[in-house]
Amino acid sequence: MSARVTVREAEVDDGLADLGLLDDGERARAERKRDPAPFVTGHALVRRTLGELLDRDPAGLTFERRCTTCRSELHGKPSLVDVPGWHFSLSYTSALAVVVAAEGIDVGVDTEDLTDADFEGFADVTLAREEVAAFEGLTGRDLLIARARVWARKEAILKATGHGLVVDPSEILVTGPLEAPGLVAWRAEEPAPPAVSLVDLDLTTANHRAAVAGLTDQPLEIVGG
Ligand SMILES: CC(C)(COP(=O)(O)OP(=O)(O)OC[C@H]1O[C@@H](n2cnc3c(N)ncnc32)[C@H](O)[C@@H]1OP(=O)(O)O)[C@@H](O)C(=O)NCCC(=O)NCCS
Repeated sequence: MSARVTVREAEVDDGLADLGLLDDGERARAERKRDPAPFVTGHALVRRTLGELLDRDPAGLTFERRCTTCRSELHGKPSLVDVPGWHFSLSYTSALAVVVAAEGIDVGVDTEDLTDADFEGFADVTLAREEVAAFEGLTGRDLLIARARVWARKEAILKATGHGLVVDPSEILVTGPLEAPGLVAWRAEEPAPPAVSLVDLDLTTANHRAAVAGLTDQPLEIVGG
């Protein structure tokens, strides 16, 4: 048995052609962004993906959010209002949006632009002490790929659980960048999910890496990614 996860990606459209697909709240959030294009592309991709899977009008879908930490309904992991059992996750950079959706399992996706992994102190922010060795000897683009891959794995897990970066990613240990993806240890105070399946996504964009996590002990079957 495997758990089916649908994946869609889209290059950010600077023309904002999909603005009309968003609801009033999303449009208001878009207007507050210095560059609204990634937000508009991402949220339109969520609507298109779920509209297609559920055979619903993408513009008619409604969403709510709930923070797992403070229970606020103003931020936190988003979900569909009237479609129980379906889960999705969105990640976007200035160039690319990625959406995953699945029935029956919590999912999280994260995508990272390699250039965003190019900063000193990456290990301090992201890695547990014993994860550092796997990066030794890597330089240049190989190092950035390794960082983006591991960062995406950790953040995908934390988006599947709904914690986001409230949990310190250095407390979530994953396999090394040259190994198959997997959760190695959960050291955060917050309760660990009972099971995590992790997959690195093959994107069409060479300058990004991405991972998807599902809170299940079944392997993930990636469809359309
Ligand atoms: C969620 C988070 C990990 C996203 O990180 P990012 O790399 O900047 O952004 P990504 O593009 O990968 O993901 C953004 C999308 O993740 C989703 N998201 C937001 N919070 C989420 C959460 N807690 N869990 C899962 N998904 C979440 C939303 O769809 C969001 O898009 P939007 O902001 O346009 O609505 C990060 O912003 C975070 O941890 N925020 C939590 C901060 C917080 O909640 N603080 C208060 C606690 S009381």
